[in-house]
Amino acid sequence: MPASDLVSAARGARRHALADYSRFKVGAALETVDGTIITGCNIENATYGLTLCAERVAMFKALSEGHRRFRRIAVVADTAAPTPPCGPCRQILWEFAGDIEVVLANLRSEKGRHQLSALLPLPFDRRLLK
Ligand code: THU
Repeated sequence: MPASDLVSAARGARRHALADYSRFKVGAALETVDGTIITGCNIENATYGLTLCAERVAMFKALSEGHRRFRRIAVVADTAAPTPPCGPCRQILWEFAGDIEVVLANLRSEKGRHQLSALLPLPFDRRLLK
């Protein structure tokens, strides 16, 4: 599927964001190897610390629905500069998706593509638990 389809899905998901505290709405769309799209948005909470980022919502939704192999994730925010995944999201994406492509966009256009391995160099993962 074209990256633009994934970005469109992330833009759609962003509309569901629950971001009353930061007012910073984010949408994510994860593509599985068979072309299924699973979306997520950020979900904030009055305690602040329980906030879930859009990327992790998308990933946990996907895992809970049985998906295990992923190709790409798109992340969308309404900013001129791209919004890359935060550190904890990079770790979770690496754990469950490996070296996927991360497509960053705003409401108007794509803002760049990165391999997750470039965003998370020298990761800690299960290989190091041996
Ligand atoms: N956020 C995401 O959902 N994904 C990102 O990649 C960056 C940050 C959310 C968390 C919080 O709800 C708001 O954006 C401001 O940090």
